[in-house]
Amino acid sequence: MLIDCDPGVDDAIALLTAMSRADLVGITTVNGNVGIEHTTHNALAIAQIAGVDVPVHRGAARPLIAPTIDASYVHGATGLGSVELPSVSRDIDSDDAVGFILDMARSVDDLHLVAVGPFTNIALALRRDPTLPQRLAGFTIMGGAAGPGNVTSTAEFNVWADPEAAAMVFNEFPMLTMVGLDVTHKVLLGPIERDRLRAARTPSSLFAAALLDHAVTVVGEIRGWVGAPIHDASAVMAVLRPDLFSGRSHPVSVELSGSLTRGMTVVDQRVGGRDGTDEAPPNAHVLFDALVDDVVTEIVNAVIDLQAQD
Ligand code: BDR
Ligand code: CA
Repeated sequence: MLIDCDPGVDDAIALLTAMSRADLVGITTVNGNVGIEHTTHNALAIAQIAGVDVPVHRGAARPLIAPTIDASYVHGATGLGSVELPSVSRDIDSDDAVGFILDMARSVDDLHLVAVGPFTNIALALRRDPTLPQRLAGFTIMGGAAGPGNVTSTAEFNVWADPEAAAMVFNEFPMLTMVGLDVTHKVLLGPIERDRLRAARTPSSLFAAALLDHAVTVVGEIRGWVGAPIHDASAVMAVLRPDLFSGRSHPVSVELSGSLTRGMTVVDQRVGGRDGTDEAPPNAHVLFDALVDDVVTEIVNAVIDLQAQD
């Protein structure tokens, strides 16, 4: 697995989950929840806390065309709430995330690419090598929604932050798995999970508990929910345990121009078009549901197991 991300509270828990349960060949970073310097520093810090030596490559500092926006109102000014980070003892492996993604796609058999930030790096990779989709065993994104958005009434953050990049991705990948808000808003981690993590007392589980404290407080305040969606960890779990999720394949396009709908993923859920022939072929397997308790337990167990004593 290779994860392209913008840590980000939920990205951090996704990375811990992947470091525990997947063969993670690298992390690439992108501007998104916060600026690229913070997302990259956070990725290095997360790997260090986990005690995992994984390559980290810095990627795009700004969207392709759209103005830069962030989600510091959710993730805090530096991206990981007010959670204290260790001083980072290593540097990035390169500032060419796109080159690294393409190298890995060429050299690693069965590589699954998981993109959980704005899709700028992936779009740039497609531009540099349009054969990228054929070189991957799978491509899963956290992004989009068939139903309501979370940044605007119609747009989800990762798509909205760089809609032109997202449009390239949906246009040029023949098939991807879309882990959007339809499913991630059902998989909530709350005080019970936080307490389990804290009780396990490993560096990663204590760190994840502190992140959950932040997520539960902030999202609780915004939405009035008891738990918080840890979107990106659901995307990682959807790769590791597809049996815990269900969805349908549909044609999906990204709206670029609507004044109310820019950044919307338009999921064509018609059963046959007007005359049964005018639908585009499906390009996305859109997840709608999950065995929520199992997914939540798997995420928490993965984080605990990462550094659990034998
Ligand atoms: C997505 O946006 C970001 O804020 C999160 O990290 C997640 O990837 C949810 O809309
Ligand atoms: Ca993210």
